[in-house]
Parts: sequence; C-alpha cells; structure tokens
Amino acid sequence: MNIVLLGAPGAGKGTQAANIVTEYDVAHISTGDILRAAVKAQTPLGVEAKSYMDAGGLVPDSVVIELVKERLQENDTEKGFILDGFPRTSTQAVALATELSELGRDIDIVIAVSVDPDVIVERLASRRLCRNCSYIGSASDTSCPVCHGEMYQRDDDRAETVRNRLEVYEKATTPLIEYYRGRDLLTEVDGDRPVEEVYASIKKLLDKLN
Ligand code: AP5
Repeated sequence: MNIVLLGAPGAGKGTQAANIVTEYDVAHISTGDILRAAVKAQTPLGVEAKSYMDAGGLVPDSVVIELVKERLQENDTEKGFILDGFPRTSTQAVALATELSELGRDIDIVIAVSVDPDVIVERLASRRLCRNCSYIGSASDTSCPVCHGEMYQRDDDRAETVRNRLEVYEKATTPLIEYYRGRDLLTEVDGDRPVEEVYASIKKLLDKLN
C-alpha cells in the first residue's frame, strides 16, 4: 500500500503516520524528519537545508526530490510506504509520479488532513518532541511517555515561523489537492477531531484498499 499524506504544518500528519506505520507495516518517509536528522548531523545536506527550515520556507525541490528518490530505492519501501511531507510542490508531485512509474509502482491513495489554521497555531505552540525516539507530544509531557527521553520544542514552531510555514503551505502545497483530486486519488479527512477519531477515518479508507 503506497500512501501520500497531505496537510498543513501541524495538521497531524506525523501523528497519524506513526499509527499507520504501526498497523500496516509500511515504510515511513518523512522528509521533515530526514532533513532534521541531516541538520543535527551537520551533513552538507543539513547545512544547506537549515536556513530554509529555520525561516519556515521550503528546501529547494532539486534537493528534496533527490533525497526521496534515493529513499524509495531502499528495500523496505517494497512492502509499501507512507510519504509524510512530500510532495509539497507541483514540481515534486510530477517528479514523484515519474520516479514511481520508473520503479513500476503507483500511489494507491492521497489523504489530505484538514485543520483550521487557528487550531494549528495553538497545536504547534504546544508541540514537544522526544529527543530520543521522536515521539510527538505536547507541553504537558514533561518527559517522553514512551522512553522517558527529554522533550524539546522544534525551532520552527515559534509563532512567526509558523505563520510563514502556513503561508508557504497555502501557496505551494494546496494546489496539490486539486492535482490529486484530478487523478482520482484524493480523499479529505477532517483532522480537527481527537487523534483516535481521525485515525479511525483513515483506517476505514486503508482497510478498503487492503
Ligand atoms: P515537516 O517536518 O514535514 O513539517 P510540517 O509539514 O510543517 O508538519 P509538522 O511536522 O509541523 O506537523 P504534522 O502535520 O506532522 O503534525 P504533528 O503530527 O506533529 O517539515 C519541516 C520543514 O522541513 C519544512 O518547513 C521545510 O522547510 C522542510 N521540508 C520538509 N519536507 C519538505 C519538502 N517536501 N519540500 C521542501 N521542504 C521540505 O502534530 C502537531 C501537534 O498537534 C502535536 O503536538 C500533536 O500531538 C498534535 N496533534 C496531532 N493531531 C492532533 C489532533 N487530532 N488533535 C489534537 N492535537 C493533535
């Protein structure tokens, strides 16, 4: 099963992807996670990506496309994958279609998680992540409920950066909703409900494909 998760920053893509990966055993490809790991390790990719990420902008298409192409060639993606945070521009969407066609694969479903921007600003202000296992939690988690690791706030979750990320999403990524609707792949899910309810809706869609 090959899944694309679309949604604004803070819509809950990472949270839902974690549930999907656990239940359906697909490879999780999060471009944000890959880029943050590169920034942390100070690799050439990380050094290039950091300034774009800190400003809430997009890392250049050429860089991200290459990264996803390489990732899709790894063996674990053969059992299926979930793309979380990619594609984010029309150029990325076309590159993805080309790459998958070369690999003899296809997207089975595109799930767009929609949440009101005011809710998103609140969610991101209180988001905290585990430094150790990347668990996604909130400011009420003083330590990671999974591994007891230290929780931290992402640099790009500052209010002014969040506003820029939302604007960039509106401009660059929302056109993909129509792009995938036109290909009969898109389903929209209301993400402004408790995590379990959102996941139940997603699970219903995925079980139909299985
Ligand atoms: P990335 O890491 O992909 O960030 P994003 O898309 O902005 O999404 P987030 O990770 O912020 O949010 P999410 O939707 O995963 O929400 P989450 O589940 O954490 O990208 C970061 C940066 O990398 C980009 O800005 C860009 O610079 C670069 N980048 C990445 N991909 C790129 C690409 N393809 N091209 C170019 N540049 C790229 O949830 C958020 C919070 O809400 C959490 O606290 C969570 O607990 C809570 N929550 C989740 N669901 C619910 C719910 N239903 N109810 C209540 N709270 C909830």
